[in-house]
Amino acid sequence: MNEKKITATELRGWKAPARRVAALTAYDYPMTRLLDEAGVPLILVGDSLGMVVLGYPDTTPVTMEEMEHHVRAAARAKPRALLAADLPYRGYETPRQAVANARRLIAAGAEAVKAEGGRAIRPQIEAIMEEGIPYLGHLGMLPQSVRVEGGYHIKGRKPGEQEALVEDAATLAEIGAFGVVLELVTPAVSAEITRLLPIPTIGIGSGPDCDGQILVTPDLVGTFPWFTPRFVKPLMNGGAEMKEAVQKWMHNFVP
Ligand code: KIV
Repeated sequence: MNEKKITATELRGWKAPARRVAALTAYDYPMTRLLDEAGVPLILVGDSLGMVVLGYPDTTPVTMEEMEHHVRAAARAKPRALLAADLPYRGYETPRQAVANARRLIAAGAEAVKAEGGRAIRPQIEAIMEEGIPYLGHLGMLPQSVRVEGGYHIKGRKPGEQEALVEDAATLAEIGAFGVVLELVTPAVSAEITRLLPIPTIGIGSGPDCDGQILVTPDLVGTFPWFTPRFVKPLMNGGAEMKEAVQKWMHNFVP
């Protein structure tokens, strides 16, 4: 395997069909190390850890301290992959706060940061990028807005949504983001944004035509079996396998 460290500058050029971005989330040392050994080039310490690790109902209760704790653990794996981390809900309300928190994630070991939104947070993104911190965008269904939106709704269907998404995506590319996650965006709109953008689109529940795909790893490997998004087909049943192993072990000595 090529051991050269993957950088945001390199990922910026990974457009399909020549290159495709495979990205997964990780929240600790073993998960990061396993994904890295599997060859995943972009690993995200996502604030999805709120649900799949910390047991919160959504991502909004996740704090900066919790993000730092998990980024530190993931960074100890010293991945060849680029290690990105989410700025949590209400962690980037002003440019000053965005920069301070992005710096904290970088100090914890992240190599890039992600936040949710486009033109609405342009000053925050510009301030982060002025610090020389690589930035990954996130558009479409924004999980940190789930309470305001009243659920996880597909984007790109309602009048004006397509134009707004295209504008937001173009803005992120113009500012210098190295990629943009498109979450729950209709496949047609995702394909159009992917065609227009000079940087990779990384889809989650947004159809097959993005330049790359990202998933919440426990959804893929079945270690959070109590909820699986409709668009994910788990490739292993980690939760059931773990329970089986534990029961086999117990039955060796428990009467
Ligand atoms: O928090 C997260 O895991 C994410 C991915 C779903 C893209 O933002």
